[in-house]
Amino acid sequence: MTALSQNPAPAAPSQTPAPGVRHARNRVIGAPSDEGSPHPPARSSTISLPPLQLGPLTIDVPVVLAPMAGITNTAFRRLCREYGGGLYVSEMVTARALVERNPESMRIIHHDPDETPRSVQVYSVDPVTTRDAVRMLVEEDHADHIDLNFGCPVPKVTKNGGGSALPWKIDLFASIVAATVREASKKNIPVTVKMRRGIDEDHLTYLEAGRRAVDLGVAAVALHGRTMQQHYSGQANWDSIARLRESLPAEVPVLGNGDIWSAEHAIAMVEHTGVNGVVIGRGCQGRPWLFGDLQNAFTGSTERYRPSLGDVADSFYRHAELLVDTFGGDEAKALRDIRKHVAWYFKGYPVGGELRASLAQVMDLAMLEDLLSQLDRETPYPGADVEGPRGRAGSPKRPHLPQGWLDSQELNERQRELIKAAELDVSGG
Ligand SMILES: Cc1cc2nc3c(=O)[nH]c(=O)nc-3n(C[C@H](O)[C@H](O)[C@H](O)COP(=O)(O)O)c2cc1C
Repeated sequence: MTALSQNPAPAAPSQTPAPGVRHARNRVIGAPSDEGSPHPPARSSTISLPPLQLGPLTIDVPVVLAPMAGITNTAFRRLCREYGGGLYVSEMVTARALVERNPESMRIIHHDPDETPRSVQVYSVDPVTTRDAVRMLVEEDHADHIDLNFGCPVPKVTKNGGGSALPWKIDLFASIVAATVREASKKNIPVTVKMRRGIDEDHLTYLEAGRRAVDLGVAAVALHGRTMQQHYSGQANWDSIARLRESLPAEVPVLGNGDIWSAEHAIAMVEHTGVNGVVIGRGCQGRPWLFGDLQNAFTGSTERYRPSLGDVADSFYRHAELLVDTFGGDEAKALRDIRKHVAWYFKGYPVGGELRASLAQVMDLAMLEDLLSQLDRETPYPGADVEGPRGRAGSPKRPHLPQGWLDSQELNERQRELIKAAELDVSGG
């Protein structure tokens, strides 16, 4: 099956309503007003940005696939890479599991032989474990780029002081970054940090954490424009991303993350914030061709992918096939994994409830092929319906933090003990 279809006609400007309008309507009543100004619409349909320079790495198209646990495995990265250039980050791996050579962690850091650069995201709460994990990545030649995760908002992580809770303890944050940069620099491997704005509006950490990370030698700083409290609700605050860009030295790239659902949104983010590149998470779930649109937008082309239902089905099938490889030939496991992608791929396309339900229970490739053959392949691209928010959303969540966490930016002894637990049983942010 073939996966690609490109509409050679110049893309009409997106029919998506101005993002600000949509978000304003969806705004959570009574939520803290921390979303910044409404996202502006793009002023143009292409934009020119220099390649992204991360230490010795030159990323021609300044676009990054956001690390997403359970999503950005070798299969999905390959699918996305086939459409466009950029930096494709792995699912996160915890430093501790890596040091213990947990088989799942070893799978996560595996890259296809043709994947370059090999980018790995590490989650850690402890400088010593971080050092050991990064040393292993570097000495055993597993990575060309290392990203550090300081954005995870999941309560079971933050209640132990990990993820987006951690930059508040700024010295701990700095020692994890320092340990990573020190080990990675032995082989000239660039390190980046990815973080949120802070814990809540009263405890914003991104400006200080960004500055400290730059002082310690990171190659770039990525900011998801939400706080831990915002979780995935409302809209990302692009004004904060602009503020971070202004506050850091111009030679250190700042990457903007949050609510890019189409190439036009990426252009709007760059125009609004002045960032040097964009990081795309949920917008490419079920839409790997978004990286083709982004490459076009960043290289002066107005062409956009407008896949028919048949094209979508082909990509979906190919994704499933690639997952079989990712999971070492375990077809049942791969097909279980593809089920979570069904709603994303077929969002906005007229696919009946019964067929959707069957797809969400698919057992093997033969059954998948049979189910997909029931689709009307000629059904055209639905337009704006597929270019809006998808994936995780929800409402703001009360931050779950260790007791007394916000009393001081320094760790006390009890918190030092507690934080070790933050690394156990962690997945995704
Ligand atoms: C399913 C899922 C898994 C995620 N896993 C991670 C992760 O492992 N590491 C990380 O730094 N961020 C993770 N994120 C956050 C994304 O990288 C990104 O910052 C966030 O989705 C905002 O970007 P978006 O609006 O483009 O989706 C995850 C997000 C989702 C939806």
